[in-house]
Amino acid sequence: MRRISIERLNEGMVLAKTIYSIDGNILLNAGIKLKESYINKFREIGIGEIYINDNISSDIVIEDVVSDETRFEARMAVKKAMDSVMSGNNMDAKPVRNIVSKIVEELLTVKDAVINLQDIKTLDNYTFAHSANVCVLATVTGISMGYDANKLKELSLGALLHDIGKTRIPNEILNKPGPLTDEEYEIIKRHTRYGYDMLKESVDISAYTSYIALTHHEKYNGEGYPLGLKGKAIHEFSRIVSVADVFDAMTSNRIYRKRLNISEVVEYLISLGHHHFDYDIVRKMVEHISVFPLGSYITLSTGETAIVVDNNKKYPNRPVVRIIKDPNGVVYRSFNEVDLASYNNITITDVLDDI
Ligand SMILES: [Fe+2]
Repeated sequence: MRRISIERLNEGMVLAKTIYSIDGNILLNAGIKLKESYINKFREIGIGEIYINDNISSDIVIEDVVSDETRFEARMAVKKAMDSVMSGNNMDAKPVRNIVSKIVEELLTVKDAVINLQDIKTLDNYTFAHSANVCVLATVTGISMGYDANKLKELSLGALLHDIGKTRIPNEILNKPGPLTDEEYEIIKRHTRYGYDMLKESVDISAYTSYIALTHHEKYNGEGYPLGLKGKAIHEFSRIVSVADVFDAMTSNRIYRKRLNISEVVEYLISLGHHHFDYDIVRKMVEHISVFPLGSYITLSTGETAIVVDNNKKYPNRPVVRIIKDPNGVVYRSFNEVDLASYNNITITDVLDDI
């Protein structure tokens, strides 16, 4: 299985992961051969990339750290919570609590979780899919920091609902394709206080969980908003969620920009450790992110092109790769696999969209 951008899809390619609509219906089943009309539909609903199987990648299995069902339920729970506060009702915390327990339980059974799979987001489900992903990333990090199940659930719940205050921000501003004016940016910033006000009203939600909505845009150096808190004065839950939030946003395609490669984003987060983010938390999270996810195409310092077939947990920058093309771009007759952890003289020089 490998990820491919929509621009590079051709008729006859085989879909490797089922695509769901925002309300849970199957749009296309895994295994189906693509037709031009399907590819056009992807464009229409704003899917930037999908997973396919081909002869180079069909033996590469990329598993999500939580089940499809759980990820889907998490998206729906956020959608329902947002819909109910938008229509002026109080949020029912029970469904959100249930799904958070499920996420925590599933992740606690995964030993040394490594995130290789990027979920497929559409224009419609971006906010919900983003929230679910921030929740998974934050929970994995909390586990790695030795949190017990109760503490994990508090963190996980706040991560899932961190942007609930956006329900009070006009859509024209939230989805504006171009840069924001100063005034619009000031309006967006208010989602933190709105979210906090919504969550603190709920008897089932702890103060620390609600603080996540309030302080997930604080920066470690004090330059964030809304309070301008600095360093450890920002609650640890919010320090975790702020890294997860930025990671997921930067690695997702948006209408106004293409996603960045995971390796670029990881480098960015590490370089901003101790400035925007808590460096120790960035390190903990990054340990669980595959820098070169399975199925990625890369260029090696030998000039050859390869596909990533396995991770090295100890050396995340040194995956096992299958070499596909020689330096002149000619496809090899048979593909050799090389464990880069054993070949220090070979480096990865580029990550490619496709070959
Ligand atoms: Fe936010």
